[in-house]
Formats: sequence, C-alpha cells, structure tokens
Amino acid sequence: MKDTMLAYFKEIFEDIKDVEVYFAPGRVNLIGEHTDYNGGHVFPCALTIGTYAAVRMRQDRSLRFYSLNFKEKGVIISSLDELIYHREDDWANYPKGVLWAFAHHSASDSAPDTDYKGEGGSGDKGSCDKGSCDKGTCDKGSGDNGFGDNDFSDKGSGDKGSGDKVHNYNTSCFMPKYGMDIVYWGNIPNSSGLSSSASIEVLTAYIIKDMYYPDISLKDISLLCQYAENKFIGVNCGIMDQFAIAMGKKDHAIFLNTSNLSYEYAPVRLAGSRLVIACSNKKRGLGDSKYNERRSECEEALRRLQNVKPVNSLGELSEEEFEQYKHVIGDETLIRRAKHAVYENGRTVRAVKALNNGDITAFGRLMVESHESLRDDYEVTGIELDTLVESALKQEGVTGARMTGAGFGGCTVNIVEETHIESFIKEVGKTYKEKIGYNADFYVVDIGDGPVKL
Ligand code: GLA
Repeated sequence: MKDTMLAYFKEIFEDIKDVEVYFAPGRVNLIGEHTDYNGGHVFPCALTIGTYAAVRMRQDRSLRFYSLNFKEKGVIISSLDELIYHREDDWANYPKGVLWAFAHHSASDSAPDTDYKGEGGSGDKGSCDKGSCDKGTCDKGSGDNGFGDNDFSDKGSGDKGSGDKVHNYNTSCFMPKYGMDIVYWGNIPNSSGLSSSASIEVLTAYIIKDMYYPDISLKDISLLCQYAENKFIGVNCGIMDQFAIAMGKKDHAIFLNTSNLSYEYAPVRLAGSRLVIACSNKKRGLGDSKYNERRSECEEALRRLQNVKPVNSLGELSEEEFEQYKHVIGDETLIRRAKHAVYENGRTVRAVKALNNGDITAFGRLMVESHESLRDDYEVTGIELDTLVESALKQEGVTGARMTGAGFGGCTVNIVEETHIESFIKEVGKTYKEKIGYNADFYVVDIGDGPVKL
C-alpha cells in the first residue's frame, strides 16, 4: 500500500522526495451505542480497513489536500494561517479542523471550551505566535508540550447538563510551523457509520504527532480530534470513535468507560465466527442527522432527573434507580431516550463479561436487545437497518446482529459462523434488495491496530 500511495502522490504533486505514508483504521462498535455522551460504557474495536495518507511537509504555510475518494473536488488549498470552516472544502474540513484544534489549544492554558464561530465569524486561530513555533518548540515557556502525561482534568458536566465530561488538558504551543501536501485514500465506505471521518481526523493528528510532537499520547490525540469534531465541524459526538481509532489493538475490542476514560482491552474470540458488516448504503452525515437532537434529549432528561437524584450522567444510574425515578422526567419520549442510555450501559457491561467468559451466545443476545432498544426507544434505526437485522437473524449460523454507529442509515454488525458467511451475504442481500430497492454491501472484517507509519 505504501508504494501505491507514493505513486498516487507523485501523480498529484509530481515527486515523492521526503514523502511519508501513514495509516489509521476505521472502527466498528460491538455494543454500547449512544452511551458515550451519556457517561456510559462502549465496546468498539478498530478495523484493518481505514484511511491512508501520503504526506510531505512544505517550506511555507500552505496546505494542499487531495482525496482519491473525492477526486471531483480536486486539490483543496488552505493555509495554517486561515483555518476556517468552508462548506465547499467538504471533506478537507476534517484535517483542517484537526490543525485548527492543535493551534486552538495553544490559545489558552485553561479549558478550551469556546465554540468555533464558523465561516466568516470570529474563529479564534489561536494565540500562537507563528514565528515562534519551530518544530514543536514554543517560546511560551516550559518546553513541556503538555500532552505527554495525559494531563487532562475532568471539568465535570454539571453546568452543561451533559454526561460527556470535557476531558481537558493543558497545552502550550502545538501549531506546526510548516504546511503540507497530503493525499488521502480510504477503503472504509463513506458515511456508513464506520467512522471514516474520525479516521481522517486521527490520521492527520497522528501525522502531526509523528512529525512534530512525539510525546503526545494517543489518548490525547483522540481528545484533540473529538474537540475538532465538536467545535470546528459542529457535531457534538462523544469520544468513542476517535478513541477506538487512536487506541485500537489487533484482535481486541476496547471496553471504555467514557466518564473517566479508563479502559481495558478484551480479546474478541468468536469461536469459528467472524464479524460481518452489512452496509445499508443509505447515506447519512452526522451533521444533518438527528444526532445532536438525541443528545439534547438525553441532556434534558438528565436535568429533570437531577431534581431528585444527584447524578452527573445517565450512565451513573442503575436500571433499578432509573425505574424508581423516571416519572420525574415527565415526558414519554424523553423517558424512552433516557431508558435506552441507562439500559444500554448495563447491557454493555454484561456483554463484555459474557465475551470474557467465552459466552458468545449471551453476547449475541445482548446485541439483539441493543438493536431493539435503538429501534423502539431511541428511534435511530429506520427501515434499512431493521431489514438488515431482521433478515440476518433468520439466517443460520448468526449469533448476533445490530446496527452500529450513530444510526439513521449506515451499517449493521453481525456475528456469523464462518461456514455460513456466503449464504448469509446472499440471502440478506437478496431480502434487502427486494424490500429496499437497492443493494447492501457486505464486508467480512478483522480487528486491527491503531494508527501507524508505514
Ligand atoms: C457516532 C458518534 C459517537 C457515538 C455514536 C453512537 O459514531 O461519533 O460518539 O455517539 O455515534 O454510539
């Protein structure tokens, strides 16, 4: 793949002197959906499919982005001195957002929780004196780049009413001095719920880490990318995708507690079964989906619960506590949203235990319950994903099936016995085409490592 990326780079930017090639994975979430911004648990894993980048530092501050997945957009030109969200820059807003986040964090040694004001607005470009940043050395002081020791403080969430704590960290100056030419290519289906955008973000941040700031931890890379997504792109996502990608480990899923970012790797042993992803090909973008609306609904339910129960997030409530207090929420829809967040968290904890005990059947059952809750209480599935799951569960050799990611289109994840994969793909594909009118795509995937230089 390295040679292929170098050849592509040569085609676009003419020569390959000093070009380096990097990779970051996509991710699939096995269980724990819409729990990450509710202070609950998630259980995602990185995939061996993902995004590649061939990159060369420039002698000036220009940025030239090109994606082989969006050839029609051509080379998108920007500059380290003008990191502003432009709708027409399309996918390139993701790497721009990451560079903006590096710079923006240098603006203050304290909590960077101001919103980016968007195009034409007062987007703060960060207070870094460009002339003073040379290869990661900032004249602002300590020589400590501030990321190395996971120096983030939990700001808590009480004032925001959200379960997603702002995991913050101190920085001094992170703005790279030079721009870059960069060619991306990804083999994750776009807008499918396998985090192609978080993959580009983490890949870009990893390149900057590798070239300038090797001491930044991968955990902090994930936080910085989430910050870019929240504040530059404007999607209020939780930490799951960026964390799963930055921290991925071959053949393991990550059992992450999003309230404090403690995590454990759990080996995914499927006893003769494989993970099969079914992509509905119903396109969705988080930005124009109801994602932010679901998040606000959970925040509102939490605020109402806080009148009777002092909790910081829905993830802190047990199922029994929720049943005891749910009446104070006083709105049927909000109760169902909060119920999903609370019960899904419990399911995730139980599912990881089951997997660790080698009980794939129990794990699969919990996956199905997860889908039902996302369909009935959280209402983020839709006919495409429901059709894929219903049909999957009718096939022989299927242990579990559920939607994965934000929902509203995207993919399902299925555990299928190896010997039945062929018929699974044929039959589910046929039913889907008949009912929905267009094809689904199927991927038999492997769990891979986090970002790497090739
Ligand atoms: C998207 C978001 C994640 C998470 C999932 C739903 O993938 O980026 O933070 O909320 O949806 O579980």
